[in-house]
Amino acid sequence: MKAKEKQIAVLPGDGIGPEIMAAGLEVLAAVSQHSDFSYETEFLPFGGRGIDEAGDPLPAQTLAAAKQSHAVLLSAIGGPKWDNSPRRPEQGLLEIRSALNLFANIRPTRVSDIQIDRSPLKADIVRGTDFVIVRELTSGAYFGKPRSLKTDEAIDTIYYSQNEVERIMRIGFDLADQRKKKVTIVDKSNVLATSKLWRQVAASVAAQYPEVEVEYRYVDAMSMAIISQPANFDVVITPNLFGDILSDEAAEITGSIGQIPSMSAGEDGPNLYEPIHGSAPDIAGQGIANPISMINTVAMMLRESFQEGELAQVIEAAVDATIKDGTVTPDMGGKFTTQEVTNHIIDYIDGAYTK
Ligand code: IPM
Ligand code: MG
Repeated sequence: MKAKEKQIAVLPGDGIGPEIMAAGLEVLAAVSQHSDFSYETEFLPFGGRGIDEAGDPLPAQTLAAAKQSHAVLLSAIGGPKWDNSPRRPEQGLLEIRSALNLFANIRPTRVSDIQIDRSPLKADIVRGTDFVIVRELTSGAYFGKPRSLKTDEAIDTIYYSQNEVERIMRIGFDLADQRKKKVTIVDKSNVLATSKLWRQVAASVAAQYPEVEVEYRYVDAMSMAIISQPANFDVVITPNLFGDILSDEAAEITGSIGQIPSMSAGEDGPNLYEPIHGSAPDIAGQGIANPISMINTVAMMLRESFQEGELAQVIEAAVDATIKDGTVTPDMGGKFTTQEVTNHIIDYIDGAYTK
């Protein structure tokens, strides 16, 4: 028997989800063949598939298996089919984040030299971009109560406790400490009470990290700065809703949101890994979805949950080489299919071990 048998809960989801998940798992199988990393996968219904198969976007069986796993690998959920369903697929995502206490969502934006020309920004502006958005994921506007929708009024609530802010600050400052030692705190403290708390707690945590440079920005100004000076940032710590918006904007400066992985982590229990993009129902089933986000997501899982940094690096190098070759899907300006891109990446992986 191999030394380490890791259990991975696989949630292929909806739209392009199953297609890119297949690509990610092919790549995982390919690198694992060259190492003693060994794992088992369990496929579970989730999102729209959960509604169709079990009447629930997060079926009890899926949550139970996810809790037992060493890591949860998710691709994407949702689609027009469930627009009028009493419970939407997205609800499953919010529930699993909450049930696994995954309060810290890590979304990297890195533009490597070979990607510079793919960015919609000018080369001089985008060169050197390498930052991480640390998005609070289980509180704020997404979870605050009361919450209601009537025909003539609707209520959402933004709530943050000091403890919730403090723990996400620690994740962000610890990360900055291992990186370029700069934190950008994003909020709307000129208007929102929760943002005032956000900034106060940030300042008290910052005092414990004298090595880390701290700056504060309002979210509106930050949305400008992300495109005017993206190379200035290292770790960006932001509440749930702002993080949702800013991370899509940040992803776009790499040239395609179809490349960006993410990790959601809590204090204990398995982490959840997912591309940051959606299920792209408009291109589902055509075999042209960009598999790179899912493949990068697999690399992130190997590094962060399984301490297999070397395997992650082999995957990322293979992805870089493939992008450099121009073997990319239409969203990145190429003409290749999901399977062709995946095969190309696997060829590079196999090549890395036969040298
Ligand atoms: C994301 C997504 C989700 C979010 C949706 C699908 C609920 O946009 O992961 O960024 O808003 O968190
Ligand atoms: Mg989003």
